[in-house]
Amino acid sequence: MKFVVAIDGPAAAGKGTVSKAVAAHFGFAHLDTGLLYRAVGAKVLKGSDEIAAATSLTSADLDPETLRTSAVAQAASKVAVNPEVRRALVQFQQDFAKRDGGAVLDGRDIGTVICPDADVKLFVTASAACRAERRFLELQPKDSSATRDGVLADVEARDKRDRERATAPLIPAEDAIVIDTTDLSIDDAVAQAVALIEKARTA
Ligand code: CDP
Ligand code: CDP
Repeated sequence: MKFVVAIDGPAAAGKGTVSKAVAAHFGFAHLDTGLLYRAVGAKVLKGSDEIAAATSLTSADLDPETLRTSAVAQAASKVAVNPEVRRALVQFQQDFAKRDGGAVLDGRDIGTVICPDADVKLFVTASAACRAERRFLELQPKDSSATRDGVLADVEARDKRDRERATAPLIPAEDAIVIDTTDLSIDDAVAQAVALIEKARTA
């Protein structure tokens, strides 16, 4: 059985949280595609200047703990503007989506570019203030130098770069269903996503 769920949206909207929960609910595999761009960004920060080298990723490059910093997020959004970088990462994502048993991929261009034929497309969003506050609460225990204003600036700068780039910009697919999580608990956001996927599975 092949079944693809595409989840896109701006920074810290809850894409990963919703993706993980729906993957667990339906027994689907989950790929956080942001980690791929973060891994490339981290390599560039370490001095890798050739695209081929920066984009040839192994599992050792994909440790979420070291990649979930504001510095790596900014570097990721800068490399993500480069069409060559994006092209180098397409095959891996599309192969992941094709696996038997179902797959959930979350990112910015899953419903528009990577999996335009996905069975369900969700666009998870929330106000910038709400997203920045959530990301601040997540980062602050690990990084005491994180500030509310700094995290808001990071989120807004990345959103702008992601929305305005020429290749695979952040935009809801025409057939995506928008879930605004500004006033939703995690449980309610997950329940909405599960219900929409359930409906598509039985259609
Ligand atoms: O993957 P993405 O960057 O879109 O966001 P995330 O890492 O899933 O969520 C960012 C933070 O918001 C996490 O700490 C979540 O627990 C939290 N969150 C929330 O408070 N309410 C929601 N409805 C969804 C996520
Ligand atoms: O978790 P958060 O939403 O903060 O970011 P992420 O999903 O880890 O993505 C980091 C950066 O990678 C984004 O700001 C985008 O510039 C880029 N990205 C992308 O261009 N395309 C994707 N499919 C996923 C991420």
